[in-house]
Amino acid sequence: MGVSGVGKSTIGSQLANALGVPFFDGDDYHPKANIEKMGKGQPLTDDDRFGWLQQLNHLASDQIKIQGCVIACSALKESYRQMLQKDILGSVTWVFLSGTFETVKKRILARKNHFMGEALLQSQFDTLEEPTAGVVSVDIRQTPDEIIKYLKAYILEKTQFGVLGLGVMGKSLSRNLGQKGFKLSLFNRHVDALEVEVAQKMVDEHKELSSALPFDDLVSFVQSIQTPRKIMLMVNAGKTVDQVTEDLLPHLSANDILIDGGNSNYLKTKERFDYLKSKQIHFVGAGVSGGEEGALKGPCIMPSGDENAYAEVRPFLEAIAAKDKNDRACCAYIGNEGSGHFVKMVHNGIEYVEMQLLAEVCTLLKHLGNDLDEIAAILSSWKVNANSYLLDITIDILRKKEGSDWLVNKILDKAGNKGTGNWTTIATAQLGVPSTMIATALFARYASAFKEERIAASAHFESKEKPAPSISKEEVLEAYQFARAINHYQGFKLISAASEQHNWKINLSELARIWTNGCIIKSDLMIELVEVLRENQNILDDTAVIDQLQQLKPSTKKVIAAAVLSELPIPCLSESIQFLTNFAVENSAANIIQAQRDYFGAHTYQRNDDESGKAHHTHWSK
Ligand code: 6PG
Repeated sequence: MGVSGVGKSTIGSQLANALGVPFFDGDDYHPKANIEKMGKGQPLTDDDRFGWLQQLNHLASDQIKIQGCVIACSALKESYRQMLQKDILGSVTWVFLSGTFETVKKRILARKNHFMGEALLQSQFDTLEEPTAGVVSVDIRQTPDEIIKYLKAYILEKTQFGVLGLGVMGKSLSRNLGQKGFKLSLFNRHVDALEVEVAQKMVDEHKELSSALPFDDLVSFVQSIQTPRKIMLMVNAGKTVDQVTEDLLPHLSANDILIDGGNSNYLKTKERFDYLKSKQIHFVGAGVSGGEEGALKGPCIMPSGDENAYAEVRPFLEAIAAKDKNDRACCAYIGNEGSGHFVKMVHNGIEYVEMQLLAEVCTLLKHLGNDLDEIAAILSSWKVNANSYLLDITIDILRKKEGSDWLVNKILDKAGNKGTGNWTTIATAQLGVPSTMIATALFARYASAFKEERIAASAHFESKEKPAPSISKEEVLEAYQFARAINHYQGFKLISAASEQHNWKINLSELARIWTNGCIIKSDLMIELVEVLRENQNILDDTAVIDQLQQLKPSTKKVIAAAVLSELPIPCLSESIQFLTNFAVENSAANIIQAQRDYFGAHTYQRNDDESGKAHHTHWSK
């Protein structure tokens, strides 16, 4: 690519020759009308170019299926390049032939019998949107031989992207990248008898990785990747990220990019970002959601850090991400520093609550006299009003039998966690935001872990007879919908507060959009929230949400009251109404707290009849 006169045809045909693939000159594919227009000195419009670019895209797609090819095409605008690489992104290497106006003008004037005259050159430069990322830029003042030698080595010998760590997620992500046509370097460490030739075995087992280079030697792995290198770390969050970074550092070059795709703590991501910046290495912290299947078929990706570095890795991340309903990638730049890992952490907090709510709903439906197949059928009927991935998998779980009993009945009732719910709860406390449902869901998991103590307490406190709550399954659905709305409000509120505090400028609607597919909390509600958050940063200010919560509130109160009377544990459902009841009051009981603080600690208080906001103090005991 490049403006007319930079030597696209010359370099292109020589490069094709050196690579042993056919060469196609984009100019030969212009319809007659376009050639006549250009011959008359009239610049082409975008409409003139549309069909032409589409034809070149089809040509490239067909050739990729055979052996590849070189195509020369000006591709001046980013939108043209998008059109040219549609559906073949991973298989395209862009070469930008770059020269100044004066250099190119000299070449144009030296040419004979070419329909592009000097007069059009200025319009070409005006139209040119220089690619800032994802291209090999070549200075046309070099000789063709030098350029070809460089490009041949670049294209044939080096890979485009490295993945380090081939556990469950690393393996699936690598296969996904391979399916999109990217040429990869894959690394997994060697551990005697435990991790032996992991990368080699993966390449042998999966057809889509047949062009990938496998390594268990770190230095060769690094050297095999085109510079600036793009290496995705798919290792356990925590110390391993730092260890691997230290191992890599001596072998990296300035401007290489490391992407951390694990569930790292956002504060550590900021530290790593700053540390690597001091070493001239870019660091992109990317939250990745969707589990093993998501990683393979299309995860949701939440990258953050240096925006220019993100531009370099964007084609890779967008190509493997899930697609939203408008076919846009569920991957978007979140903001600076560790904001990507922050939103992934809150994603998990919302996930904890959604999981806990479903577990509580199952408790209620069970006490309404339903067996697990019947509960699955009821949840299935809820897909009309409350469809979500977590609802879907819960239905599958409830239906799974082992022999004549349901498998889930045989699972020990102690919930584990890997720490992201814990971090979200810490963050909400640190930021002073009452995202109480996340804390409640986390503590419900913690409580479940005290199995022996729970059994002992049950002997003292649990009623032997628990009357069926006098509620209907329709009312349970309404309480569930109510609680989910509050959960999402609290999650987005936490992100909005963090964004403000750290100046991340997170676009909440765009975040909701990338959460509509690929991730664990994808749902119909999330699709609705994309629009809600476009209009309003505060979900509770939206009139449709207000109407819905008002309509759901009576059933919610009834379900929760009945569950309390029947002694059914529903901490998250209860918290949803408690939160709103405590929040939506014009006059709260916090005046008593302020008076108490002032009484024993002289912490002072403000008066509601003194608009100056002045601090008052009283000698209470006198
Ligand atoms: C995802 C998941 C994923 C992982 C959680 C589980 O978005 O793909 O959230 O990140 O399954 O870390 O967390 P717990 O082990 O804490 O439940």
